[in-house]
Amino acid sequence: PHVHELVLHKGFWLINGIHDLDDVDQISSLETRDSDVFVVTYPKSGTIWMQQILLLLEAKGDVTTISKLNNLSNGDLIPWIEIKGGRQSFITASSPRKNVSHLPYHFMPSSLSQKKGKVIYVARNPKDVLVSYYHFHKMAKMLETPKDFNDFFEKFLKGRVFASSWFEHIKSWYSHKDDVNMLFITYEEMIQDLQAAVERISLFLGEELSDEELSNTVKHSTFSNMRKIPQASYEQVPGDLLDHHQGRFMRKGTIGDWKNHFTVAQNEKFEEHFHREMMDFPLSFIWD
Ligand code: PPS
Repeated sequence: PHVHELVLHKGFWLINGIHDLDDVDQISSLETRDSDVFVVTYPKSGTIWMQQILLLLEAKGDVTTISKLNNLSNGDLIPWIEIKGGRQSFITASSPRKNVSHLPYHFMPSSLSQKKGKVIYVARNPKDVLVSYYHFHKMAKMLETPKDFNDFFEKFLKGRVFASSWFEHIKSWYSHKDDVNMLFITYEEMIQDLQAAVERISLFLGEELSDEELSNTVKHSTFSNMRKIPQASYEQVPGDLLDHHQGRFMRKGTIGDWKNHFTVAQNEKFEEHFHREMMDFPLSFIWD
């Protein structure tokens, strides 16, 4: 009953009822400030994780500051700019404004290309994105539950999902990865060395933290510790949005879970598709 259908808007799939098309259209003309920070991801690539890191950096690693913010989740504290009301909140928010987004480059504020505001793009290997997104479709009430894994596999390759094609998304942003106001980071490097990733992020944002504050930031953004905080793992999100019986938003948090889902044939098809799409983009991922 709660499922909203997808709506194709200027070549990009959005969720009817969650996104307001006029609002989305006006994002590109928003005026950004030097202090603005946008975390941009394709869904299931580490959004909530980066929200947690940014919140902790701002709180100097003090997790109790964040949990004191009533029952606000990471998504409330660092909201999506494209969700209904997000644009208006952005306009009235005080600096430093922090937002997340799943939008492709050309939908985002064009003043970003004049280096006003910073972008952190988090990329994750798309086989694991696909698997994570499949499980998310089963628990998210606003998204249609896939018939089976293969049904979703095909939809993902065709880009018939919210946020459209993973390939188009990453290509639109990857072309800007060397811009001075952009940090391009992968989920896999965060898994492999979270301390180094957090240091890179704090350096990029110009946040000055002591060694102890940095190590507290790392400590409270690990998978197991985030899972213990309902606001940082969406365990407190109402059941009419996420069906918590279908699984946990913080599901597995590993590299290579696709191996437990893909058949040999699916893997071959995926590889072929990947190489065709990514031919001109020298991007290498850690797959397992
Ligand atoms: S969403 O719906 O787009 O906001 O989802 P997103 O937050 O981008 O992605 C959710 C996946 O990220 C995993 N995750 C983590 N992995 C490792 N360490 C930490 N700290 C962490 N936090 C979130 C989360 O478990 C989802 O991946 P899967 O593979 O499904 O477990």
